[in-house]
Parts: sequence; structure tokens; C-alpha cells
Amino acid sequence: MPRSLIAGNWKMNGLSADGWALADEIVRRAAATGGPELLVCPPATLIGLVAEAVVGSPVALGAQDCHPDDSGAHTGDISAPMLADLGCRYVIVGHSERRSDHGETSAVVAAKAKAAQRAGLAAIVCVGETWSEREAGRTAELVATQIRESVPGGSAAANLVVAYEPVWAIGSGRTPTVAQVAEVHGLIRRELGGRASEPGNVRILYGGSVKPANARELLAVPHVNGALIGGASLKADDFLAIAGAVAS
Ligand code: PGA
Repeated sequence: MPRSLIAGNWKMNGLSADGWALADEIVRRAAATGGPELLVCPPATLIGLVAEAVVGSPVALGAQDCHPDDSGAHTGDISAPMLADLGCRYVIVGHSERRSDHGETSAVVAAKAKAAQRAGLAAIVCVGETWSEREAGRTAELVATQIRESVPGGSAAANLVVAYEPVWAIGSGRTPTVAQVAEVHGLIRRELGGRASEPGNVRILYGGSVKPANARELLAVPHVNGALIGGASLKADDFLAIAGAVAS
């Protein structure tokens, strides 16, 4: 079983003082959580600051997006080598908010994931169905297609993480049943056989309304190797309680 990853996606939240305080508290209390790897993904403006807070600690640093190119005329964008230069080890690509807010297709997501891997980062590739797609019985087909089209062929367990995030569960307080999570994670594991070497070692995270109250149940599902956490990652107590639910 791969080592679990508990990842905080801070989204577009936090100014310098809050970002520093949150990262610093997580660093100070990280050792008490035991087994899982901890990762924080602050907004781009805070990456440099949070890098200073986590340096020398077991808490890893990641970003929320990157451009497919390494450099060039792309006003406002940030490349994967720039993130690596700041100390990032991970970058989230293809989050459903980027797919919907910025029209990112799976082809764009795959190009971003490749850029991340070229720069020595692990890409956290997000997939997941909308509520209407689930209602229409299309979840399996849709997630399988997203995996095939968004995960670069030849990925390795060291440079790829997949996050299953049902769009309807994000920020809503609703979560799929453990049976539904098990079904999709099993399917993702099988699909990874065609995309990654050592597919059994690629970590597959669950994301969408993970809280301390439901973490133990969700993290115990087969093929759930950690969590991608939005809202609850903004409170050190909640984030660390979720991490603690892995270890115990
Ligand atoms: P949430 O967000 O935990 O606030 O539902 C998860 C995510 O979007 O990664």
C-alpha cells in the first residue's frame, strides 16, 4: 500500500499573515499525526512565504495549477519550473473549478500534468462527475475517459497522484456513500493500468467535503490513499484531525 497523502487545497484564500500562521501551526503539529504525508497547496501569492514556513519540515509544498509550457509569453500564468524553483513538490491540475471556470479540457490537463512531471513535480490529476452525470448513470464512463485523457501515458507512481472529486461533493457538505467511493476508486485503479507504471503504487485521493467527522470512514475505503481537502484544510485543527484519522 502506498503511503497516504493528506493534501490541503487552500484555493483562493488567505493573505500573508493567515497563510503563515496556518502553515506554521501545521508544521509545529505535523509530527503528532503519525503516518501520512502532509501537503499544503496555498494560492500562488503565498507559495514563497509558505515555503519558508515548511522548509526543513516533513510538510510538503504544492501549487494549485501550472501552465503547460515551461516559459514564454503567457501573461499572468505560472510554469511548473517556477513552482519547482520555489520548493514545490506537487501541483494540482484539472481541478473541477479550473475545468469549469477556465474551460480546461482533459487534453489541457494532460499537457499541464506533463509539464509538472518534466519539472520534477508530481501532478495531482483531478477527475470527477457532476450530479447530472451521476444521475444519468454515466459516472464510470466519464471518470474512465477523464483518466485516459488527463493522465499522461508513462506516468510513474513517484510523479502522479489522482484525486477523485465528485463535482457535486465539493464544498457542498454532501459525500458519496463508501460503496460509491469504493466503486470509482477501484475503477480508477484499473484504468491506471493503461497509463502508469506500477499502477498499484499510484496514490488515489478522495476529495469533496472531507471533514474530521467523515474522514475515518472515507479513508478506510479500499484504494483510497488519502484525501484532497478544501474548506477543512483552512483550519489547522480540522486538517490535522483528518490526517490523524489515517494513522489510527
Ligand atoms: P472541499 O473541497 O473539501 O471544500 O469540498 C475539496 C476540493 O475542491 O479539493
